[in-house]
Amino acid sequence: MRRHWQRAPLLARGAFPGFASPIEPAALFGLSARDDVESRLVARDNGRWTLRHGPFERLPSRRRPDWTLLVQGTDLHDDAMHALMTRFRFVPDARVDDLMVSFATDGGGVGPHVDQYDVFLLQARGTRRWRIAPPGDPTLVPGMPLKLLARFEPSEDWVLEPGDMLYLPPGWGHDGVAVGECMTFSIGFRAPSRLEFLTAFLAAAADAPGGPDPRFGDRGRRVDAHPGALPDDLARRLRDWAVGWRPSAAEVDRFVGCWLTEPKATVWFERSERGLDPARFARAAALDGLRLDRRSRMAWRGAGVFANGEAVDAPAPARRWLRRLADRRALTAAECSRALADDGLAAILHGWYDAGWLRLGETPAPR
Ligand code: SIN
Ligand code: CO
Repeated sequence: MRRHWQRAPLLARGAFPGFASPIEPAALFGLSARDDVESRLVARDNGRWTLRHGPFERLPSRRRPDWTLLVQGTDLHDDAMHALMTRFRFVPDARVDDLMVSFATDGGGVGPHVDQYDVFLLQARGTRRWRIAPPGDPTLVPGMPLKLLARFEPSEDWVLEPGDMLYLPPGWGHDGVAVGECMTFSIGFRAPSRLEFLTAFLAAAADAPGGPDPRFGDRGRRVDAHPGALPDDLARRLRDWAVGWRPSAAEVDRFVGCWLTEPKATVWFERSERGLDPARFARAAALDGLRLDRRSRMAWRGAGVFANGEAVDAPAPARRWLRRLADRRALTAAECSRALADDGLAAILHGWYDAGWLRLGETPAPR
């Protein structure tokens, strides 16, 4: 982290020794047919690039070269893929985006491009040649369906085998080309920009103003000889509102926790498969333990605890358990039997279980 994170690429040969992909191509194709999964198909035909968005009922033949299927958020749909993501928890959950999987036939790739985000490119199956270039001229090839760098002068050229992994900081040019059929996992991170954050913050403030919304008024206005001129009092009032907008630190902190734990747009939680009343839930948790559903996002900061876009109001003893749940994504059976003795916490966790945010059992049952 000290030497490479956000600073310099790192090629880690054998990062996952003896790596075997937890997902088969057929299962990936199945995901790409679902309408709650984001997928794209990129193909090159005589130098002409095409891009299509899923869901895909049919894909090109595996015998045809030069195409690639990209499936976003596989960690949300598959426990084994989610488990692989936990290997990257040396970076805070709030920075994690998703695990994208690409499947390519010989020659397939998405062309030379840059990403705004940190990424670990883990070779999962077959072989891929990566060429990378330091941040430079961002000019794109005009008129393309994808963002392709017009000038790409690679400084490194590597062939990755299963288990090899390449870390790239934001802004580094890269071009990965499949050598024979291959699969690559992109463990991607996210970082908000100021405008993204402020747009979301103001939208939330507009939804829940938390007080009266003052409106401009001009009682006592005189007849004006210049109806085309912007009235000074109106322009000044609006400027004062913009310049003087000072939300409290507590208000911003609460929003930050909610916003950063917001589930992905494609996520729907299913209510728990066997509805249990609070007492039976507490007994079952004390026997089996609890874990966050793989789609749940949770975080804590100071006295604040946040889950799936909501702030949790919990007194200090309950907060201790919730922090542990956020850090470990699970509570053991023994921990549950102590934690659920707290009625407030028991009610919170039962509500989460009921909503499908939380599951019984410390680890998912094997497939
Ligand atoms: C790929 O897996 O083909 C593309 C991944 C990336 O360049 O970010
Ligand atoms: Co990329």
